[in-house]
Amino acid sequence: MNKEQILEALKTVKYPGIDRDIISFGFVKDVLIQGDSVKILLQISTKDPANVRKIEDEVRATVQKLSGVKSVELDSSLSKAERSPEKGPDPWAGRAPIPGVKNIIAVASGKGGVGKSTVAVNLAVALRELGYRIGIMDSDIYGPSLPIMMGLHQRPLAQGNQIIPLEKDGMKLMSVGFLLDDKAPVIWRGPMVTQMVQQFLRNVRWGDLDFLVIDLPPGTGDTQLTLVQTCPLSGAIIVTTPQDVALVDARRGLEMFNKVNTRVLGIVENMSYFHCPHCGGRTDIFGSGGGERVAAELGIPLLGEISLDPAIREGGDSGNPIVQADPESPQTKAFKELAIRVAGLLESSPV
Ligand SMILES: Nc1ncnc2c1ncn2[C@@H]1O[C@H](COP(=O)(O)OP(=O)(O)O)[C@@H](O)[C@H]1O
Ligand SMILES: [Mg+2]
Repeated sequence: MNKEQILEALKTVKYPGIDRDIISFGFVKDVLIQGDSVKILLQISTKDPANVRKIEDEVRATVQKLSGVKSVELDSSLSKAERSPEKGPDPWAGRAPIPGVKNIIAVASGKGGVGKSTVAVNLAVALRELGYRIGIMDSDIYGPSLPIMMGLHQRPLAQGNQIIPLEKDGMKLMSVGFLLDDKAPVIWRGPMVTQMVQQFLRNVRWGDLDFLVIDLPPGTGDTQLTLVQTCPLSGAIIVTTPQDVALVDARRGLEMFNKVNTRVLGIVENMSYFHCPHCGGRTDIFGSGGGERVAAELGIPLLGEISLDPAIREGGDSGNPIVQADPESPQTKAFKELAIRVAGLLESSPV
């Protein structure tokens, strides 16, 4: 019996009422083995003391069952500190999956204009082409892109307290841009962020989806925080551009997701190189291998490299994403490879 076996076994212990295990929440801080006795250090963050007891009982029972284990001792003192009132409300209290939605992927970036929305939409279309049921949630309250990128300007209907998402090309779509006038002043939008994210996750009738792709606003603000506190994400993708300075932003994004125990699937380098529509040649405007270096330095996979190409912008501006508009183009191929990689990562290791 060794530490790895015990950690493996503890992956079967789920947070009460949530289909996510205590290892991925980071609740197990250490495992000490001495002969046939095991000591486990737990740090459970929850507001409900009953949950601590439930998890402790299940941890004890699970480890006790392993062969070679005689006694199990739990140290949960850190959990209690987390629950002390001066620490404020428990950030995970309301976290629950969306019924019917198998995977929630957040597309994030350190700063704006790197092509996050472009990647989110084309990744979504590429996943749909692979046969998955897809929803796209545009959570950028300050600069919603989905209406233009998908060429949709209707208002979604409401039914009771549920919003029926718009549908196009077999995908369910929701954006604050469908609800708000372009002219709604920015000053009104800030205070609405938390409510919007929660409503989009809880009150939109997404139905059965394999992937809900969420286009986040840039940075690490309220939207990101509300999102990770409302739903368990299957993973996040960080979009970056090849300049060296982008590394700093990408790292900030990675740190934020790490802090909230959200798996970062990897980074996508957008505008990697210039794909000349005239000669078909490749020019590395910002030097080559930037994405690879960033990925290696951050210790996460490089999921894809997307070229800088006028056709990608045109697809975005005309409401016809390139993956759909030009299925045979090399850019479409790059997005499809990205989709295959993302789907593979999530299917091979359940959240
Ligand atoms: N690979 C690319 N090639 C050409 N234009 C791109 C590419 N990626 C994004 N763009 C364009 O750059 C602008 C910003 O992209 P967008 O996806 O809105 O960025 P973000 O969501 O990160 O702010 C848009 O006009 C978009 O069409
Ligand atoms: Mg955007």
